[in-house]
Formats: sequence, C-alpha cells, structure tokens
Amino acid sequence: MDSFALKGRVAVVTGAASGIGQAIAKTLLELGVIVGALDRNTDGIPDGCCTLLADVRDHDAVTHAVTQFAEKHGRIDILVNNAGVSFVGTIEQGSEQDWMRVLDINLLGQMRVMRAALPFLRQSDAASVISMSSCTATNGIPERALYSASKGAVHSMTLAMATDLLAENIRVNCISPATVDTPFMTELANRATDPVAKRRTFNERQPTGKMVDPAELGFAVAYLASPLSGSTTGTTLVLDGGMGTLRIPKYPGASENGKSST
Ligand SMILES: NC(=O)c1ccc[n+]([C@@H]2O[C@H](COP(=O)([O-])OP(=O)(O)OC[C@H]3O[C@@H](n4cnc5c(N)ncnc54)[C@H](O)[C@@H]3O)[C@@H](O)[C@H]2O)c1
Repeated sequence: MDSFALKGRVAVVTGAASGIGQAIAKTLLELGVIVGALDRNTDGIPDGCCTLLADVRDHDAVTHAVTQFAEKHGRIDILVNNAGVSFVGTIEQGSEQDWMRVLDINLLGQMRVMRAALPFLRQSDAASVISMSSCTATNGIPERALYSASKGAVHSMTLAMATDLLAENIRVNCISPATVDTPFMTELANRATDPVAKRRTFNERQPTGKMVDPAELGFAVAYLASPLSGSTTGTTLVLDGGMGTLRIPKYPGASENGKSST
C-alpha cells in the first residue's frame, strides 16, 4: 500500500491522541511513515508513533519536542498542524480569556509548531505542510464567531505561507472538513439538552446526511503529503459532504423539471 510514495518519510502530526489527528497518524503509519505524534495528552496516541508530549501553547516545549524528534531523523517531510479546540458562542459570548485561549491554541499553536519544524522541513526533498482549517472558515455556522475566526485565520495563513515557501519547494495546503465524527463532536452533543437530537443535526447539516468519517481525513492528508501531488500548493481540500456548494431542496418532489425527484 505505497501508492502515495510515503514509505520512510518523516511526519509530525499534532493533536494525534484523538479524533482526526489520531486517524491521520494511523493512516500515515500504515503507509510506512515515521510519525511523531505531538499532543498534550498521551492516552490515545496510536502504537507505533513516537510520542512528543507538548502543549502547543508552550513555545519551549513545542520547540524542544519537535527538534529532538527531527534531529533523530535528520529532517521533517510532513507537518500536519491539526491540534485544536472548539468554542460555541456568538460574538457576545465568551470572555476575553476564552478568545485568547482558543486563538492561542488554534492559531498561535500552529505558528509555534510551524516555526519549530521549518528548519527541518528545509532538509526534505519534498516537504508538505497540511493545516487543519474548517468549513466554518467559509460558511456561516451559528454560534461559531470565535472558532470560525480561528479557522479563517488558519486558511489565510496557509495561503501566505504557501507563497512565502514556494521557492523553497515547501508546499502548504489546508483541509476544510465539515462535521467529523470525533470526540470533539461527541463532547459538543453531550452539552445539549437532547444529545441524540443534537447528533442528528450534526449528521443532517451535510447534504450527504452524515458526518465525515475521520479515516477520510487520513487519505486526504496522504494525498497532500505525497511527493506525487507536487503541484498542489496553496489550496484547500474540502471534505464537507457538499455543505459549501450543493443546494438540496428541503421538501420532497422538488425537482425543477416538473418530474418528481422521489
Ligand atoms: N470534528 C470536527 O467536526 C472538525 C471539523 C472541522 C475541523 N476540525 C478541526 O480538526 C482538529 C481536530 O479535531 P478533532 O475533532 O479530532 O478534536 P479532538 O478533540 O478529538 O482532538 C483534538 C486533539 O488535539 C489535542 N489538543 C488540544 N489542545 C491542545 C494543545 N493545547 N496542545 C496540544 N494538543 C492539544 C487534544 O489533546 C486532542 O488529542 C481541530 O483543529 C478542529 O478544529 C474538527
């Protein structure tokens, strides 16, 4: 299973102890990649990864963990900047501390890991950086003012970094998923008065009628990480079940050619 030509490549995946990052780490391991899993938790890091214990808010811890791992392997080929937290609320909700905390993790955390990894990405013959954005960066989702702002910033930073690093042959892309079935969403559902109904809305907000499977993110990363996708830089790979582009009529039999669509 080396059709992505990733065997023996060296990757750092942040937030790899749970959900999307864990699924990405597992896929990369299956493809023969050497994976450094950076997380503030160690429970849940897949067997076979090298554990890099660090909180992305801690500059020194991030730099130390990334440098130690990269020096051992001589380079970093793939950086998956994925660690992140959610926040539900309108612009009026959340304290200034909440805003600082979420931006510190979701945005500044990516900056810290990227800065620590860059000297080692420069040692790769085919470096690829993949940042986790979200469909909330480009779609208005209720009560996501802070979270959307953090993910919109990741999207914009991806474009700027892709430009800055083009001449050094370091590709930078981001992934924009809609609702992915991870502990992140289970926690949000469990906060609702009716968690089962809330989970149903999470499924239904994708035109496909279901949440995105975390394993799909693993293959999306494999494509973007692969040296075979050398022309793909400065892009957003959207995994949103059609949320951003498809307009599905809400009532049955709504075909506009007069025929019933049911
Ligand atoms: N689940 C979704 O529907 C969804 C949709 C779009 C984007 N995303 C993004 O995908 C990423 C992963 O989400 P998930 O659903 O897998 O979440 P998750 O909560 O299941 O996993 C997040 C991981 O990040 C780690 N993490 C959080 N804060 C950290 C910190 N300060 N330092 C180091 N590690 C930290 C956690 O320990 C955890 O292992 C996030 O950036 C999230 O914003 C998720």
